[in-house]
Amino acid sequence: MNILVTGGAGFIGSNFVRYMLEKYPKYKIVNYDLLTYAGNLENLQDVQKNGQYVFVKGDIGNYQLVDYVVGTHQIDVIVNFAAESHVDRSISDPGIFVKTNVLGTQVLLDVAKTHGIKKYVQISTDEVYGSLGETGYFTEETPLAPNSPYSASKAGADLLVRAYHETYGLNVNITRCSNNYGPYHFPEKLIPLMITNALEGKELPIYGDGQNVRDWLHVKDHCTAIDLVIHKGIPGEVYNIGGHNERTNNEIVHLIVEKLGVSKSLIKYVPDRLGHDRRYAIDPAKITEELGWTPQYEFDKGIEETIQWYIHHPDWWKRVKSGEYMDYYKKQYGET
Ligand code: NAD
Ligand code: DAU
Repeated sequence: MNILVTGGAGFIGSNFVRYMLEKYPKYKIVNYDLLTYAGNLENLQDVQKNGQYVFVKGDIGNYQLVDYVVGTHQIDVIVNFAAESHVDRSISDPGIFVKTNVLGTQVLLDVAKTHGIKKYVQISTDEVYGSLGETGYFTEETPLAPNSPYSASKAGADLLVRAYHETYGLNVNITRCSNNYGPYHFPEKLIPLMITNALEGKELPIYGDGQNVRDWLHVKDHCTAIDLVIHKGIPGEVYNIGGHNERTNNEIVHLIVEKLGVSKSLIKYVPDRLGHDRRYAIDPAKITEELGWTPQYEFDKGIEETIQWYIHHPDWWKRVKSGEYMDYYKKQYGET
């Protein structure tokens, strides 16, 4: 099987490329990535010499190039991870989110249709469902109610994917996963930001009252779910992915402070994110019952391994936290 992985140089994409190359040594994996601020080929240094791996630098919005790559490599399956992925950046600059996440997806779908691709998998997010109250879960039937420009752009993409299935009969699946954590997570996101700031002795900024809830899943468990969807997903179906692991942001930050043995006085409550969703929680019954997926990682083990990964890879995150990152950081958090 020849798989085009878009956005394979980012956090989840790079973990997925590595997972697939290890599990399916005969598959060809073509990683198509624009290498934006979030794309980093260092994430895949260990696979560069694998003969089954190809990297192409390009924009998912570039029809000619995507068309050429899909034709040249005789692609069977497209898995679209490529996106602008950070909610805070979407609040300050929504335009690029619509361009990449909505228009880019439409280009990929057009190419998939032209080439008669066997399967198109859209990596979406639980954020398209909006926010939950204190109880209940997101199911695949929950109405879409995105609250941020990021989640609205992901919902727009999902609707296009659905439409290409209904209108042209394209074999599509949409996955909607909860918050991922693990190695190579870009340190603008909560967990890697808190770990790396704590290691640097910097403030740990918690938005609002810190009681917002996220449902954390190890990135490798997300990869095993996508693998099942590629091979067994029923055409046109949506699959929610999550491991029943709800934590408040306060719990997460206190856990990191404790495990790293730094002072609680680093924690700083800062003004809330605009439109901040209160709670996400996934009901994974469909993917569990229909495709046989179960997550393998206990959170305590996963977070411990993740913290150790950051402790042992200071070169990686120190390089990432320089240049453009510092401009973003000052804009978002002030001069701290
Ligand atoms: P990321 O920001 O780490 O990586 C995104 C990748 O896409 C980068 O390598 C970037 O260079 C690439 N990219 C951006 N614009 C591009 C373009 N126009 N053309 C080609 N490549 C482009 O993101 P992530 O956290 O790995 O998320 C990957 C996908 O998974 C996204 O679609 C996101 O919406 C979805 N998702 C993320 C999470 C999470 O917790 N991180 C959870 C559920 C779903
Ligand atoms: O739910 C899946 C989504 O998870 C993905 O679709 C997104 O791509 C991914 O970025 C993530 O979105 P969140 O907004 O949930 O993740 P983030 O790490 O940005 O924030 C997690 C929580 O922590 C959220 O409630 C906001 C809070 N937070 C975040 C940052 C960066 C803080 O309190 N302080 C911070 O500095």
